[in-house]
Amino acid sequence: MGVFDNVLKDSESLFRDTVALDFSHIPKPILYREKEQHFIANCMKPLFQERPGRNLLIYGPPGIGKTVAVKHLLRELEEKTDDIIPIYINCWQKNTSYKIMLEICELIEYKFTHNKKTDELFKIVAHHVNKKSAVFIFDEIDKVEDFDFLYFILEEIYNKSIMLITNYKDKLFEIDDRIKSRLLPELLNFKEYNEEETKGILQHRLKFAFQENVWEDKAFAKACKKTFELKDIRSGLYILKEAGNDAEDKAQRSITEENVNIAIEKMEQFSIKNSTDLDNEANFILKIARENPNTKIGELFKIYQKKGGNVVYKTFQRKITYLDKNRFIATERIMGGPEGTTTIINPENKKITDF
Ligand SMILES: Nc1ncnc2c1ncn2[C@@H]1O[C@H](COP(=O)(O)OP(=O)(O)OP(=O)(O)O)[C@@H](O)[C@H]1O
Ligand SMILES: [Mg+2]
Repeated sequence: MGVFDNVLKDSESLFRDTVALDFSHIPKPILYREKEQHFIANCMKPLFQERPGRNLLIYGPPGIGKTVAVKHLLRELEEKTDDIIPIYINCWQKNTSYKIMLEICELIEYKFTHNKKTDELFKIVAHHVNKKSAVFIFDEIDKVEDFDFLYFILEEIYNKSIMLITNYKDKLFEIDDRIKSRLLPELLNFKEYNEEETKGILQHRLKFAFQENVWEDKAFAKACKKTFELKDIRSGLYILKEAGNDAEDKAQRSITEENVNIAIEKMEQFSIKNSTDLDNEANFILKIARENPNTKIGELFKIYQKKGGNVVYKTFQRKITYLDKNRFIATERIMGGPEGTTTIINPENKKITDF
């Protein structure tokens, strides 16, 4: 038998359109988030009358539709009017005022940013954006390193709504009082989906992603149950896709519970553990690593000692390796620099989206 004998032909694929399973795909409609979308839209409404909108802090755990609900609204806004500029920034990727201003320049199609400092970019952005109204969305706001951009927008942009999205509401309390007292956001809590809703969302995506009747009922029920347990739709999409891939690899004509089990196992190898699982020392080190992004391991150890840490360097190293393996942090080895090989600690653990 040839190695490729069991490959399904193109016309036999179990998938119809894998794009529908992408984490970044924006389905239509966004189910079970009507209330939240209305709330968000209401904060933007004054902008239609060229008046300042309201600011908003959206918070809630991962994978429950915060980003997708907002992006969906921005798309509708774009279809409705040219008078309100939608500005969406992911602060995980753009984590300084400078990078954020560059990104805004790109969004408003201003090209002459070369060699310009943050302050100059501020002025340019103000000049252009103030010709209209604007909605600013700063997603994953807890990842930014400085808040100057926020102060600038609050002070210099007239008709705007600023919306911050985060998993950690309390992070906002770390913002400067100058900013806090100007921002005064409404709060919107996204809650986890219940079991019915979880199933409804996956069913909806499945209809677009797979051929009809390729999912065995039991297999789909298992995928839903696991997703509900994890309270994260992203893991559900991952399970659907990987189960489909596994079935195709085996040239099956339908997707079974066994395929789902394999997908779940694969996902669990990647999953991020909860920091409450860590011992005190590891938690202490994790906290320091988070407060000091992109720091060399030797420097981090010094900071740790200054803060009263008292394990020896070897143990410290072991804890770092443990945190890395369990994906609380990421480390990067730099070979042959001026100080020989060293390890840089980056506190950003990766989400499943990064795979
Ligand atoms: N109501 C929904 N309808 C359809 N898809 C949804 C819904 N809620 C979530 N999803 C899907 O689940 C995935 C995760 O949603 P989203 O990216 O919006 O999560 P989030 O709340 O922003 O999470 P995080 O805090 O980790 O950024 C996305 O692929 C999204 O399309
Ligand atoms: Mg998000």
